[in-house]
Amino acid sequence: MKRYKCTFVVLLVSFAVLSVFSASPLDEDVEVELVLTREGNTSELPCNLQVTHPPDKVSLVEWTKGDDEQPLYKVDFRGVQTQVVPKPEGENRLSLRLVEDKKALLVISSTKVADEGLYNCRVDFYRSQTTFTHVNLTVIVPPQGVQITDELGIPIKNGVTKAYAAGASLILICVATGGKPLPTVAWSRDGEIVTNVTQHFPERFRSQNILRVPELTRSDLHAVYQCEVSNSNQQPPLIVKVTVEMFLRPLEVTLIDPFRFNQTFSAEKKYELICRCKGSRPPPIISWWKDGIPMEGGTISVSADGNTTTSTLWFTPQASDDGLVLSCRAANQMVPHSELRDSWMLKVLYPPKIILHLGHGLQPSSIREGVDVYFECQIIANPKVTRVWWLRDGIRLASNASAGILVANQTLVLQGVSRRSSGNYYCESSNTEGTSRSVPFQLKVKFEPVCGEPNNRKVLGVAKGEPVKIECKVDAEPAARYFRWSFNSTPGISRILKEHTANAGLSILTYQPMSASDYGTIQCWGNNEFGTQRAPCIYHIVPAGRPDPPNGCVVANITHHNANITCVKGFDGGLKQKFIMLVKVGDTEITNITSASTDFEVGNLDAATEYTFVVFALNAKGWSKSGSTLMARTLAAPGLKELRRSTVQSKETKLKGPWMYILLAGGSTLIVAGSIAIIIFVVRRFKVDSPVRERRRSPKRNELSLGPSIQGFTDAGTDDKNPDLIPPPANEALLTAGLIPTAPYTITTRPSQKRNCATQMPVKPYHVTWAPILQSRNCATQTPPPHKESSV
Ligand SMILES: *[C@@H]1O[C@H](CO)[C@@H](O)[C@H](O)[C@H]1NC(C)=O
Ligand SMILES: *[C@@H]1O[C@H](CO)[C@@H](O)[C@H](O)[C@H]1NC(C)=O
Ligand SMILES: *[C@@H]1O[C@H](CO)[C@@H](O)[C@H](O)[C@H]1NC(C)=O
Ligand SMILES: *[C@@H]1O[C@H](CO)[C@@H](O)[C@H](O)[C@H]1NC(C)=O
Ligand SMILES: *[C@@H]1O[C@H](CO)[C@@H](O)[C@H](O)[C@H]1NC(C)=O
Ligand SMILES: *[C@@H]1O[C@H](CO)[C@@H](O)[C@H](O)[C@H]1NC(C)=O
Ligand SMILES: *[C@@H]1O[C@H](CO)[C@@H](O)[C@H](O)[C@H]1NC(C)=O
Ligand SMILES: *[C@@H]1O[C@H](CO)[C@@H](O)[C@H](O)[C@H]1NC(C)=O
Ligand SMILES: *[C@@H]1O[C@H](CO)[C@@H](O)[C@H](O)[C@H]1NC(C)=O
Ligand SMILES: *[C@@H]1O[C@H](CO)[C@@H](O)[C@H](O)[C@H]1NC(C)=O
Repeated sequence: MKRYKCTFVVLLVSFAVLSVFSASPLDEDVEVELVLTREGNTSELPCNLQVTHPPDKVSLVEWTKGDDEQPLYKVDFRGVQTQVVPKPEGENRLSLRLVEDKKALLVISSTKVADEGLYNCRVDFYRSQTTFTHVNLTVIVPPQGVQITDELGIPIKNGVTKAYAAGASLILICVATGGKPLPTVAWSRDGEIVTNVTQHFPERFRSQNILRVPELTRSDLHAVYQCEVSNSNQQPPLIVKVTVEMFLRPLEVTLIDPFRFNQTFSAEKKYELICRCKGSRPPPIISWWKDGIPMEGGTISVSADGNTTTSTLWFTPQASDDGLVLSCRAANQMVPHSELRDSWMLKVLYPPKIILHLGHGLQPSSIREGVDVYFECQIIANPKVTRVWWLRDGIRLASNASAGILVANQTLVLQGVSRRSSGNYYCESSNTEGTSRSVPFQLKVKFEPVCGEPNNRKVLGVAKGEPVKIECKVDAEPAARYFRWSFNSTPGISRILKEHTANAGLSILTYQPMSASDYGTIQCWGNNEFGTQRAPCIYHIVPAGRPDPPNGCVVANITHHNANITCVKGFDGGLKQKFIMLVKVGDTEITNITSASTDFEVGNLDAATEYTFVVFALNAKGWSKSGSTLMARTLAAPGLKELRRSTVQSKETKLKGPWMYILLAGGSTLIVAGSIAIIIFVVRRFKVDSPVRERRRSPKRNELSLGPSIQGFTDAGTDDKNPDLIPPPANEALLTAGLIPTAPYTITTRPSQKRNCATQMPVKPYHVTWAPILQSRNCATQTPPPHKESSV
């Protein structure tokens, strides 16, 4: 130690001289090197070994810490190299490393915070002055952790904030714990510092920075804010990222018209409506409304980015929807008052809807003949109709002033309706959407009952004791339901008949004439709300008899082998009649044909042959007393020239017959005629013929027969033994002999029927009693045909 002090003094003196020229490094304002080390890392503290005056050499390097005199580490180059590990309690964390004789690095492994301090390195040289190096070791402790919380102090999870509404303010607090020195906490977005104002709380080892975004906007959605915590630029900062979540109100709602139907729909057709909403987070609730009333249905789909939501609705517009407002509303549940809507005014086209009205003030139940009726057609249609048609029972009506029909666009006027105006009326109209018709209006023109029989009358042949059903058919609206029947035999005497049924429009009387006095006229009256039938239906009940022969037979056509014969039917005797035609050549019957009508067709005839055709009528009572005869010649076979016998010829033959006969009769003996008349007169007195036969008798006999005829009728139906009733085949001899074909029994002169009829005519048909009716039957040509057919 003594030696060391002496050397030191010597050196100090010698350097004092030198120091006049050079500054001494041992002064107060020494340079201090700064070394930063992270806790736990290895620190290297440099010490300068630079020799100022070579070839001088370092003799000693000694490290001390702070004011501690005790060296930490010492290397003595003099003599044997010695390493001093001071404080034996040292953990061998120190070592010295020489770098090319220029630097001596004190290496501290696993640096601790306690290692901090000012380190001094003293270097002795053999000759040169001792030098000092001062090193300030600072140990940096990194921050322990970083946490981000929201304004309520709730930690952010998974790096995503809770959702904020647009306009809300965002507050995020980034808190760093630990660290020496206390770190800087900075918020940045997209690489740019937003704020780096750090609050330090040393006593709590905390540092924090509060991020404040005063008003979030739509562009802040999914913005990434990052908190960077750092207390050393040698170390990368700690970074925590936060993504901002937001609720966004819908931006736009659109009703889409993909098919360009221009908001115009056809009723009852299906349409796909699409409503699209953009910009809502989370996807909005889309609802459909019609006229302020919510509609069912709607299928939602959300685009992949969640920005676009569409709702699809199948919509079948109704005619009543025309003019209503259809709207689509989108609302974000999370954002109050965020509803947006788009609306359409619906235009619905539909076929006409037609309602038919009976004119104002008209009661359907009180339309009777003669009143004016009008209808109104009420039409609702889109587009508007241009034409209206009126129809009755499917037939289109046109204006016809003479028929009293006036058709104006939507009105139909029927002037003075009659029962024929009854029917189903409706109107029809069309537009681009279709054609419609109204529900038919059944017009029933009310009228009082009228007889349904032709000419109001009918002749019925009835056998005595035989019940007959008489149907009284009455037309009326409403149908007649009450009927009155009466029987008249002698003028002024009538009795009511009660044995009848009454249905709507039809009454059936079962009548059974038991004696001659039961023959006569039956009348029937129907009754409805509008009155009683004025003219009754009249049924002449006559004893059933044999029919009259057909007359007026002609050849309708004749060829080689065929002939068509047609006649006019006569009175049927009050019963259903049919007809038979005998075909003869000479006296020989070739064939016979039966027919329900008076038209005959005969075939298989020989050509060029003269044929005789005799037509009879027959009914249940028997054959007509005579036949109508006709002769005709078939045509010659082709190739042969043969004259055709025409119908005229045959008629001439017929006409010739009576005249010849009359001349003959006149030319022969009047006595014979007189005696025959007397004989007939005598016969008549005891036997009265049927009215059928009456016709062919003289007027004188007719008049005579009036009295006892009641008696006579009783036998009329069965008087087969009457000498005049020659069976038809018996007539053939006369017929073929060219005599009068229709009156084989007649020897008398023609009855003066005209006079007979003339006297009866003034009598009204429905006031006649039984006798005139019988008379009128004889005047076939003068009375209105009271009977064509009869049924039993
Ligand atoms: C120690 O420091 C070195 C150099 O600065 C660095 O590369 C290394 O990562 C550090 N070690 C630790 C544990 O931090
Ligand atoms: C060491 O450096 C730190 C800063 O780096 C300083 O605060 C401290 O006072 C210095 N120590 C000495 C002894 O100079
Ligand atoms: C804070 O940021 C400003 C500007 O960005 C910068 O000038 C300043 O150095 C920063 N302060 C800290 C402590 O990082
Ligand atoms: C809708 O309007 C467009 C243009 O005005 C027209 O071309 C198109 O035919 C219309 N569509 C219908 C269904 O009317
Ligand atoms: C969402 O839609 C709106 C409106 O079209 C648009 O402005 C916005 O950019 C969209 N957002 C996204 C994320 O696509
Ligand atoms: C008008 O009505 C009358 C009587 O019903 C009829 O004869 C005539 O043919 C009708 N005229 C037209 C043009 O239909
Ligand atoms: C009926 O048609 C005529 C022309 O044909 C027209 O001038 C009139 O306005 C129409 N009336 C109604 C009620 O439609
Ligand atoms: C008769 O009938 C034939 C054929 O059936 C026909 O050619 C002819 O014109 C008819 N004659 C008369 C008068 O009807
Ligand atoms: C007779 O009448 C029938 C039916 O009317 C007809 O088919 C036929 O051709 C007619 N015959 C002759 C020869 O005219
Ligand atoms: C009608 O002809 C048939 C045979 O064809 C015959 O049996 C019948 O007697 C004939 N009738 C008359 C009334 O001639």
